[in-house]
Amino acid sequence: MAIHFRQGDVLAAKSEKSPDSDTLSGSDSRATATRIIAQVIFNRHSLDRTYSQIINNLPTTGSEPDRRLIQELAYGTVRWWTTLESITSNLLEQPLKRKNQDLAALIALGLYQLIHTDIPHHAAVSETVGAAPLIGKQWARGLVNAVLRRFIKERSSLDKIERSLSVKTAHPEWLITALNQAWPQYWRAIIDANNCRPLLTLRVNTQKTSREEYLCTLSSSSIQAVAITDCPSAIQLVSRHPVTSLPGFIEGVVSVQDCSAQLASLALSARPGMRVLDACAAPGGKTTHLLELCPELDELVALDIDPKRAGRIDESLKRLGLDAKVVIGDGIDTDKWWDGRLFDRILIDAPCSGTGVIAKHPDIRHLRRPSDISQLAAKQRLLLNALWPLLTENGYLLYTTCSVLPQENTLQIESFLNEHPDAFHRLPNTALQSGDRSIGLVQPYGYQRLQGVHHGDGFFYAGLAKK
Ligand SMILES: C[S@@+](CC[C@H](N)C(=O)[O-])C[C@H]1O[C@@H](n2cnc3c(N)ncnc32)[C@H](O)[C@@H]1O
Repeated sequence: MAIHFRQGDVLAAKSEKSPDSDTLSGSDSRATATRIIAQVIFNRHSLDRTYSQIINNLPTTGSEPDRRLIQELAYGTVRWWTTLESITSNLLEQPLKRKNQDLAALIALGLYQLIHTDIPHHAAVSETVGAAPLIGKQWARGLVNAVLRRFIKERSSLDKIERSLSVKTAHPEWLITALNQAWPQYWRAIIDANNCRPLLTLRVNTQKTSREEYLCTLSSSSIQAVAITDCPSAIQLVSRHPVTSLPGFIEGVVSVQDCSAQLASLALSARPGMRVLDACAAPGGKTTHLLELCPELDELVALDIDPKRAGRIDESLKRLGLDAKVVIGDGIDTDKWWDGRLFDRILIDAPCSGTGVIAKHPDIRHLRRPSDISQLAAKQRLLLNALWPLLTENGYLLYTTCSVLPQENTLQIESFLNEHPDAFHRLPNTALQSGDRSIGLVQPYGYQRLQGVHHGDGFFYAGLAKK
């Protein structure tokens, strides 16, 4: 799918450094994106973290369109890396040496622009060539130029080359196999959704406004958006817009949250006076949603093991004017932080493979290994076992993941139930489902949302009630 850049986005066409010192040249942007891609692909660093670190340390901050262009090129190239790398190998006379891996990233970034964006070819080529000296490879200008021009000339014959499913879909073999086994009917739709560029979804703070009112506010600011019918507070932006300049964002009228994640807090059904534990809470998307849905809770404890991420819970609470007890601690080691008072509701939004959020985090397909799945499932099991005793009699625990793999989901809950006779499976909040609207596919235990089949991210929800 080609990305349509608006006029302001086509910094690509600029070859001179702008006199405005806050603006990057087209080649600067490409060199920056190349550094990000190389860190992710060759050093296995997280894309989100690398992007933030590199952007925050640029000598010239760059304008909003610069940052958007860098993000688009870095995330898009990482998304299609396997395909772009295969095309690159067809175009090079001989493979690049290991010390020139960053050139492979630069060439892939050039190909990404030619295949997946509307950036004019001449600008894509010249700005990419111009980035070679900026990554310390002045000598490679001719090579990059020749490879990209050859692609333009020979594209139709390159398109005819038979490529493996892994190369065609830009997914690793093991993941295709796992998705195919789990979802024989839907695996292709899941893969196609993983390769789409995600749109921003907002959660309207219904304590401050209604979804209809906020849609009107957006419309009067000429921001195109639609309501997502599956979820009462969710709005999808149709065009790109910087989050912080959305009307009312700073004042806490809206937050960014996928609709599948929004359904989790609704499914917990917390009510006034209840004590609630959000056990894997950072960065606080569900913590703040739970408080927006039910401000009269007795207490909401937001626990996370990662102090840096936990800091983001405080930031969100502050922006939204909400209050929770943020605790840094290990959900598996409850002796270290639990005060001995039981909880009426527990949400375990467990660390997982993230196989439901690959569209937003395209690096997941490169960074995950098949062996991670059983390791993650073991950790999820420990969390469930450790937190279950903290739930009051008749209490309700909701286990969620943004995974689409049964080992982390329905099979996890099945084995938990086999080992805990005081637990029974209860489907989450049935008010979320009416007529043909459902939270997801009904599983032996829990519900599964699948990207490409349902709206938003792939997500799993299972409710466990205590006898
Ligand atoms: C899927 S994310 C949670 C997202 C969050 N619920 C939200 O809606 O914004 C999983 C979180 O679990 C945390 N985590 C991982 N292991 C943990 C543990 N043993 N105890 C507590 N938190 C843990 C991670 O630091 C991460 O922030």
